[in-house]
Amino acid sequence: MNQDQLKQMVGEAARDEVLKLPAGQILGVGTGSTANCFIDALAPYKSHFAGTVSSSNATTERLLKHGFKVLDPNDVQGLPAYVDGADEIDPAGHMIKGGGGALTREKIIASMAKQFICICDSSKQVPVLGNFALPVEIIPLAKGVVSRELEKLGGKVSLRLAKNTRADLHQTPSEPFVTDNGGWILDIAGLQIANPLQMEAQINQIAGVITVGLFAKEKANILLVSNASGVERLAL
Ligand code: 5RP
Repeated sequence: MNQDQLKQMVGEAARDEVLKLPAGQILGVGTGSTANCFIDALAPYKSHFAGTVSSSNATTERLLKHGFKVLDPNDVQGLPAYVDGADEIDPAGHMIKGGGGALTREKIIASMAKQFICICDSSKQVPVLGNFALPVEIIPLAKGVVSRELEKLGGKVSLRLAKNTRADLHQTPSEPFVTDNGGWILDIAGLQIANPLQMEAQINQIAGVITVGLFAKEKANILLVSNASGVERLAL
């Protein structure tokens, strides 16, 4: 079974999970290739939900294409659940997110939700976070000072560059990747994150940081994880 099939399988499991929620509520929807599988699987059942709130421009576009209603988070009081992927998840449900650059809106929508339902394949499960470089979204003019502060954590800090040309943002691969919020991303490689809650709080305090892609306060409550033998559901 290849990775795309594993993503599709867990996307379908997440669809079944959220369809257990009472009808007529609003759902938080994440970003990335696994979240895309979830959106596609849920599309035929979209009328179960009164609407969605989206964690990125890419997700909004996909939801609208399927005919979902997408609401402004400011018009929503709370969400029963937020469904999203992760780059890494530890046994307690702490995650590294932001591989796709949507960490800030993801964290905002996650904070509005009663339950974070994390969906991934088993390659994302790790005993200790840090093998995946930790993304930090920053205000561009603070790149120098924030980089110097982050280097004190012991990892190697690099500015994320645009992978693909984004005509809408006039981005080319040699230029910084620009987030939906106009921020830049610093990736910290080589960390061993023994205490995710403490590191999240510490990085949050650096002036110029918008969001750190450590989801310890907003950790996963339910993990749906796929492997060759099926999808496992873990309550964390
Ligand atoms: C985007 C994210 C994604 O959830 C994370 O990168 C996982 O993506 P994928 O499902 O494509 O592996 O945090 O900012």
